[in-house]
Amino acid sequence: MANYPRIAGWGKALPQRILANSELELLVDTSDEWIQKRTGIKERRIASPGDTPATLATEAGKAALKVAGVSPCELDLIIAAVTIPDKIIPACAFLVQHAIGAERAGAFDINAACSGFVYGLAVASQFISSGTYKNILVVGSEVLSRSVNWQDRSTCILFGDAAGAVLVQASDEPCGPKAIVLGSDGGNGNAITLDGPGSSFNEGQSDNCNYITMDGQEVYRFAINALVSSTRKAVDEAGLTIDDIDLFIPHQANERIIHAATKTLGISPDKVFINVHSYGNTSAASIPVALCEALEQGRIHDGDIVAMTGVGGGLSWATMVYQW
Ligand code: UT7
Repeated sequence: MANYPRIAGWGKALPQRILANSELELLVDTSDEWIQKRTGIKERRIASPGDTPATLATEAGKAALKVAGVSPCELDLIIAAVTIPDKIIPACAFLVQHAIGAERAGAFDINAACSGFVYGLAVASQFISSGTYKNILVVGSEVLSRSVNWQDRSTCILFGDAAGAVLVQASDEPCGPKAIVLGSDGGNGNAITLDGPGSSFNEGQSDNCNYITMDGQEVYRFAINALVSSTRKAVDEAGLTIDDIDLFIPHQANERIIHAATKTLGISPDKVFINVHSYGNTSAASIPVALCEALEQGRIHDGDIVAMTGVGGGLSWATMVYQW
């Protein structure tokens, strides 16, 4: 019995509330034209009062289980990639485990920001390949809107809320990761920050004024370089060439970043999946939501080579070259 890590199910959860660029014009000194020209973003989803990373992850996870035809009690492990969780304790993965009734499953969170889902998928693949587990749910879920300073035009135009999930299953059919590249540059981590409850920032603070901060231009340059170098390295380690990629699913941060990176890589635009115009940057949720939509649109076929690259906070990067 072989143990190829096969993505057997997928799902997504998108809050109903759509926040268009025109509404941001009322909050900060910006314009729909500027946002679209500089980022490609037209609108993003905003969590309703009852939504949290865990509720969105649960909805996406249930959808992935349904597609795979796997029941919650068959799950061995739940990995939640989430940057800003509902709670520090219990972690998001435990809330999902309880909500879907995965009685046998272990659970833990990963925080690698926008690279978190690919990090999680990499860990899940190792557990499957080693024969340790048969069914693992990997979710990427974010409610970033609650940590955005809605008076800071350099960040509030970018982020959105969403969740995406995949069910990774042990399979006899040859498929799965052909290469995994995980990377970090903590030395430049200050380019995107959000203080946590243990930070000295909280000493003597009584009100919540803790928001995501970002050096946009620094992150912009980093994102293009990391997308290019991480993808090249993974394709090389897989023994493939860039031309072998059938579909490239980059982190959806900014359409200009995606265009610049894929142009340098030499990937033709019809092989690049982009949905940033609809959802903005949803951090750990961006790649699983994009993967789910690519599958729903019939853009991935058996045997295809799919490259997924996350880049972001940490600073971090992660590429998986996956044979469907
Ligand atoms: O997942 C990883 C997380 N983050 C990212 O990937 C973000 C990466 N960075 C970016 O996407 C871009 O740097 C931004 C979209 C954040 C900014 O775009 P930019 O082309 O780098 O703009 P900029 O920071 O160079 O600013 C250009 C001008 C400035 O005005 P001046 O100094 O030229 O007069 C800004 O003050 O645009 C101004 N500006 C804005 N104008 C209207 C900055 N933000 C806005 C805004 N609306 N929202």
